[in-house]
Amino acid sequence: MGKQKINRPRGTRDFSQETMYYRKKVEGILRRTAETFGYHEIATPTFEHLDLFTMKSGEEIVDQLYTFRDKGDRTMALRPELTAAAMRFFSEEMAYKPKPVKVYYMGNCFRYERPQKGRYREFWQFGAESIGTSSPEAAAEIVSLACHGVRATGLRDFVLRVGHLGVLRGLLELAGFDPNDARSAMTLIDKGNFQGLGDFMIEKGFPEGSRDLLLSILSLKGDEGAIAKAKELVCDVETIVDAADVSRVPSILSSLELLERISDMLGSAGVDHLIDFGIARGLDYYTGMVFEIDVLSLGAEKQICGGGEYDLNEVFSLNIKGTSGFAIGFDRLVLAMENEGLTFPIPAPVVGVLPTPGSETQAFALASQLRSSGFPTELEVMGRGLKKALSRLNDIGVAVTIIIGEQELEHGNVILRDMGSGEQEEVPLDRVLDRIAEIMAPRG
Ligand code: HAM
Repeated sequence: MGKQKINRPRGTRDFSQETMYYRKKVEGILRRTAETFGYHEIATPTFEHLDLFTMKSGEEIVDQLYTFRDKGDRTMALRPELTAAAMRFFSEEMAYKPKPVKVYYMGNCFRYERPQKGRYREFWQFGAESIGTSSPEAAAEIVSLACHGVRATGLRDFVLRVGHLGVLRGLLELAGFDPNDARSAMTLIDKGNFQGLGDFMIEKGFPEGSRDLLLSILSLKGDEGAIAKAKELVCDVETIVDAADVSRVPSILSSLELLERISDMLGSAGVDHLIDFGIARGLDYYTGMVFEIDVLSLGAEKQICGGGEYDLNEVFSLNIKGTSGFAIGFDRLVLAMENEGLTFPIPAPVVGVLPTPGSETQAFALASQLRSSGFPTELEVMGRGLKKALSRLNDIGVAVTIIIGEQELEHGNVILRDMGSGEQEEVPLDRVLDRIAEIMAPRG
């Protein structure tokens, strides 16, 4: 019977040495950026009790999850994101810490989605959460961290949009949406389907004035002027909306004020952004400021980061004043960086060590010494002859090769070959490290 070929599961990827080198470099940049903002890393399990994800989002989310029953008959899920887990961890072990508690994480997430470029069933998120305050400073800081992280990778062509759910939800309530209709509307807004939203409002019989107000504010994408314009429209509400719940007006205005303060702070720190009232975010726990970062060249899966202020107090019986966070879709960030031609090639080893027959042990010892002194070293371990070995070391980009020849060794010397020029010199064994340091110093 022929052996069955076992493929990689759909929507997952293997990562080559080159790719992992690249990814680890990018991850390092994001980690360092988070640490300069005073965030420190946590890690949580890859799987959790299913309830952790359904308590806030409802059973509908199960369709998107990888769930399983374990041997103790518990229903578990592979994590689709890390925010709920970070908050669970906080509620169990970190609630006593001085606020804000600032954490970051890098982990794989699993969503049962239709795979395509930039959308996978296993993908990685680099995220951060600031737990303990609802101040606009904290909200601005989380946006600033996301933006600085992305910028520090060298990526240039991205757009940061910032909005506020207090404005959006307030407008829906003002227009008279019940919670069910508001959910449908938020889904349409999340997809940017404003035409569909207009049709939905006609179908449901919302008055023309409230429809116009909502659609006008949704279309106000731009600089801070958009906030001023939205304030004007909301203040004018009594004259243009036929059947509005005007008691919502003060809370919409106060959300607009908060957004303005956050936007001012971002501006003061050089964090370029657009105001966009149409950001609805897919997850149910968001409450206030929300933001997204897009890379337009990625096409359909252009969103490389999403986040905002959220509330998971009820799920964990907590009483925290405010929480905000974001997650960068690490795989999409890397795709965007590659599209911009940003490279992180694996560096070549500095030194090659090439034994001739009989000197393998001396070569082994010398390679070990070189590595301990900090020189990345490639030892010829396959007994290749001089010509073939040199050619291979040349191919992998070694700067200097030490050839341990029988004759030279009798005088306590080895041959040192500059792989660039091909020049060779005889060096006493006990001077090899110093000589390599001398040669490498001007090359950095
Ligand atoms: P999210 O928008 O669901 O937010 O995911 C964050 C990012 O993960 C997205 O912007 C996207 O770049 C990436 N992403 C999502 N699904 C996939 C996929 N199937 N394949 C590749 N990348 C994907 C959250 O997960 C929230 N937990 C963010 C947050 C943290 N909010 C507050 N704190």
